[in-house]
Amino acid sequence: MALADAPSLLTLMWSPLTVVTAAHDGVKGGQIAVGAFAASIVPAQPRVLVQIQKRNHTNSLIEASGRLAVHVMAREQWGWVKHWGFRSQAEVDKFEGLEWSEHGSGLPILGGVLGWMTCQVVNHMDGGDMAIWLADVTDASRNTRAQPIRWHEVQQILPPDWAEEYGRKLSHDVPDSGRRMAALSERSRWKAGRGPSP
Ligand SMILES: Cc1cc2nc3c(=O)[nH]c(=O)nc-3n(C[C@H](O)[C@H](O)[C@H](O)COP(=O)(O)O)c2cc1C
Repeated sequence: MALADAPSLLTLMWSPLTVVTAAHDGVKGGQIAVGAFAASIVPAQPRVLVQIQKRNHTNSLIEASGRLAVHVMAREQWGWVKHWGFRSQAEVDKFEGLEWSEHGSGLPILGGVLGWMTCQVVNHMDGGDMAIWLADVTDASRNTRAQPIRWHEVQQILPPDWAEEYGRKLSHDVPDSGRRMAALSERSRWKAGRGPSP
C-alpha cells in the first residue's frame, strides 16, 4: 500500500476557506473549515456537507442546536486563519472586536465575507474524529465583488511564527484524530451488502 501521495492529493480537494459558526443557549462559536462542500444538484433545495472535528467547541454547538452557518471567506480575510483556526472559542472570544450580527435563526453572521449560508442539519455521519453534517441551506447572501481564497495560497504568505503556532496545534490534533479514527467501532463501520436504504 502506497499512501505517500495521498495527502497532497487530498489537499487539492479541500474547499475554499470558510468559517463555520453555530450558537446554542446564548453561547456562540466559530472556526475555520476547509471541509465544507456543495451537496445538492437541485437549485431549489441547496445543501452542504460540513466536516467538523468532534473535539471542537463549534461542533458541540452544532450538535446541540442542529444549525450551522457557512461563511465563504473573502481573499483579504486570509488573516482569519489564525483568528478562527488556531484557537478555540473555549479559550478566547473570537467574536470580540469583529463585525457580526445575529440572524433570525439565532446563528452568528460575520461581516465582510464573500457570502454566507444558514443551514439546518438533516443528517449526520460519525467519522471517528469528525462529525460529518449534511444540512439544508435555509438562507443565503453573496457579495459578488469578493473573491475566495484557498489554504495553499495562504500558506505561501503565512508569517513564520504563525506557521510554527499552527504546527504545534497539529502536533496535538493529528495524533488525537488518528486515535479517534481507529476507535470507530466495528459496529458503526460500513460493510458491503449492508448499504444505505434506497
Ligand atoms: C486552514 C485550516 C483549515 C481547517 N479546516 C478544518 C476543517 O475542515 N474542519 C475542522 O473541524 N477543523 C478545521 N480546522 C481547525 C479548526 O478551525 C480549529 O481547530 C479551531 O481552533 C476550532 O475552534 P473551536 O474549538 O472554537 O470550534 C482548520 C484550521 C485551519 C487553520
